Amino acid sequence: MSCFTYDAADESATATLGALLAELLPNGGTVALCGTLGAGKTRLVQAIAEAAGVDRRDVVSPSFVLIQEYQGRRPVYHLDAYRLRDEDEFLELGPDEYFDGDGITLVEWADRVENCLPKQRLEIQIEVTGPQSRRFRVTAVGARYAAVVEACQKRL
Ligand SMILES: Nc1ncnc2c1ncn2[C@@H]1O[C@H](COP(=O)(O)OP(=O)(O)OP(=O)(O)O)[C@@H](O)[C@H]1O
Ligand SMILES: [Mg+2]
Repeated sequence: MSCFTYDAADESATATLGALLAELLPNGGTVALCGTLGAGKTRLVQAIAEAAGVDRRDVVSPSFVLIQEYQGRRPVYHLDAYRLRDEDEFLELGPDEYFDGDGITLVEWADRVENCLPKQRLEIQIEVTGPQSRRFRVTAVGARYAAVVEACQKRL
């Protein structure tokens, strides 16, 4: 399995990771984000979206809206499974439309809807290691993402 760990000392280091992911993720790419409340899932989405040309202030946790679409240089779809009852409720949102689309799809609380995710995806587990620091564990699930992980690791 292709994976690496990235220790971000502060938010700007998180932004660096986000910018790199925005550059390396293929069209139609999916990122599954996991980590506790306040870990930094939305913050990483902001960084990716901003690097894709979206105004970062437009990116807020879609906990109530469940899905937000941002139009940058390419579309960014932001999904949040936190408030969903179960996987069926997630499927009712029609997530495949996003997964099969041309943009990048970013799913917060992805572990709650694991069975509904594309078989190939990038998984990012975020751990709080200090007030400003976070540990990102980035894993390629499926061969398509191995190259993304390798390129990302090389450039950090
Ligand atoms: N290095 C860092 N990377 C990301 N966020 C950081 C970092 N240091 C501090 N923070 C802060 O941690 C918080 C992360 O909040 P964020 O909303 O991104 O978490 P979340 O994982 O999306 O939580 P939720 O499960 O509630 O959606 C923000 O207030 C952010 O400013
Ligand atoms: Mg969030």
